[in-house]
Amino acid sequence: MLRFFDRFPLALHPLIEIVNRFLNIVCPAKCAGCMQTLNIQDVTMKKIVLLTALCAIPFVQGMAADSAAGEKKAAVCFACHGKDGHPAIKSYPTLAGDNAEYLVVALKGYRDGSRLDPIMVPMAKALSDTDMANIAAYFAQFK
Ligand code: HEC
Repeated sequence: MLRFFDRFPLALHPLIEIVNRFLNIVCPAKCAGCMQTLNIQDVTMKKIVLLTALCAIPFVQGMAADSAAGEKKAAVCFACHGKDGHPAIKSYPTLAGDNAEYLVVALKGYRDGSRLDPIMVPMAKALSDTDMANIAAYFAQFK
């Protein structure tokens, strides 16, 4: 990878570094498809920019939700909603299978006061937007 980048003039290196960082996050395995896209003999500026843009799509989507971080933050929710979003007590709503966007909207509703519940309002007030996105991604993955 580095030897490949060495072929480029120094001026291009910051840009290549960005592409490399995207690749490390988006495709750490450096899959054949991504590498082939990169490994064109005469990579022009245009191709690099296009690749960066393509790589940025899953990158941005990935940034929006980190379900592993969500699992940690959701520990306080498990008592009522269950570790897998299926509540032990039937009167608590099931979160499993809910769409992540729906969960975020519900949580924001409790936080901004448009949805009222004596339990959930304080719960949601303790969460940032990132926490909500991560927690939503965590619960949404269950069926
Ligand atoms: C003490 C029990 C309890 C805890 C802890 C708790 N919840 Fe709730 N949750 C409830 C109850 C009860 C409701 C239903 C409230 C209502 O009617 O609006 C609810 C509703 C929700 C809803 C809306 C569900 C829907 O179908 O609209 C979401 C989303 C939610 N909780 C997420 C969470 C998250 C995330 C946490 C942890 C940060 C959490 N809850 C912690 C009891 C709890």
